[in-house]
Amino acid sequence: MWCTRYAHFCKETLRTCRTASSVANVNKNINELVLLGQKYVTDDWTNITPNVISKLGRNLHVKQYHPLWLLRQRIVDYFYKQFPGKSGTPAFSIHDNICPVVTTSQNFDSLLVPKDHPSRRKSDCYFVNQDTLLRAHATAHQAELISMGLNNFLVIGDVYRRDEVDSTHYPVFHQVDAVRLCTLQEIFHDVNDPAGLKLFEHSGTETADKQGCHTLEAVKMMEQELKSTLIGLAQTVFGKDVQCRWVDQYFPFTHPSWELEILFNDKWLEIVGCGVMRQEILQKSGAVDRIGWAFGLGLERLAMRLYSIPNIRLFWSEDISFLNQFKVDDHNAHIQYKPISIYPPCTNDISFWLPEDGSYFPNDFYDLVREIGGDMVDQIILKDEYVHPQTKRMSHCYSIVYRHMERTLTQREVGEVHRKVARVTDAKLNVTVRIQK
Ligand code: PHE
Repeated sequence: MWCTRYAHFCKETLRTCRTASSVANVNKNINELVLLGQKYVTDDWTNITPNVISKLGRNLHVKQYHPLWLLRQRIVDYFYKQFPGKSGTPAFSIHDNICPVVTTSQNFDSLLVPKDHPSRRKSDCYFVNQDTLLRAHATAHQAELISMGLNNFLVIGDVYRRDEVDSTHYPVFHQVDAVRLCTLQEIFHDVNDPAGLKLFEHSGTETADKQGCHTLEAVKMMEQELKSTLIGLAQTVFGKDVQCRWVDQYFPFTHPSWELEILFNDKWLEIVGCGVMRQEILQKSGAVDRIGWAFGLGLERLAMRLYSIPNIRLFWSEDISFLNQFKVDDHNAHIQYKPISIYPPCTNDISFWLPEDGSYFPNDFYDLVREIGGDMVDQIILKDEYVHPQTKRMSHCYSIVYRHMERTLTQREVGEVHRKVARVTDAKLNVTVRIQK
């Protein structure tokens, strides 16, 4: 979101989540929305959907024996072992209960995300109103936790992004973010004669290797610790022989920045984004004598490979035949998910003329289909784009693959949903539906 694929991503104390059974409530008349027990005013930025709202408070990452919980336990164990604190208590603290409703200043401004950065677009995030959204990354809490005086912490939670629809993307997923801040003494504790070493230099310039204010020696020490920590994590999760490579990356909140990729079934898969934290974030949060590294990783992406889970929607399943496969005494146990059976897909097409004023965004269509079809929708594929030779109007043709995780769908019930998709698309998206079959 921050980097390659997209061009778009109250100073309050951190609120924690309520695990309420009824988490949301829309009152159309007074333009307000209740999320996790808190009221919010809605406005013309509001694009949060009932399907997404229904996921608030599910907190899969804290549900004992859930595959996302098993994986997070492995990651937490690794950090506890790798970074023992002074008096035997772990150096890293864990924050897995922070409310996912955040301000734009938490999600973007506190992380130096430019005002015109593509990740801020309405088409990429779920907004509650103009100033409030469902966090698009766990990094949203970094500056506040540093302001509270923390130096080593992990933030684990649900994050929300408007995105494509396929077997590996879902509007809600889970991230683990880490921050580690070090003083001069901590970085160079192994050096015999540290007298001439510094963290900062004053008239430095920014290069590909470092920020202007940092010394190259301090950055290299941080880079080394960050990279060996993440390679160690990849080996702990995927085994000693996992093949890894580093790719340079860009994030507004770190420099230099990298992505770690692992070789999985002959394909390179990016698993974590990371870098040396922008010093301005530390300065504004009161950590002026420290330098930091940070990373963020997506749990579903790793868990799907680790446990051979073929579809991201399965994580939301409450079917005991799914959940029971992960009930193990030891969270390090080797588990391979066995599909109970594979239900056939049922594919239907829809095509429509786009409005000429540029007001059509595919993500609006994807959300609408998800709203209507729920978890019956497996994939939405843009099959064809066509420009009419005379009128120059553009048309999009999509294949919607309907497939249930737990049973076989009939063409009759799919047909009903598909006709509703066509009707609502035509009515709500300012498009003209041409064919639906
Ligand atoms: N927040 C980034 C993302 O969601 C990941 C990241 C975290 C990168 C911290 C660098 C530092 O893609």
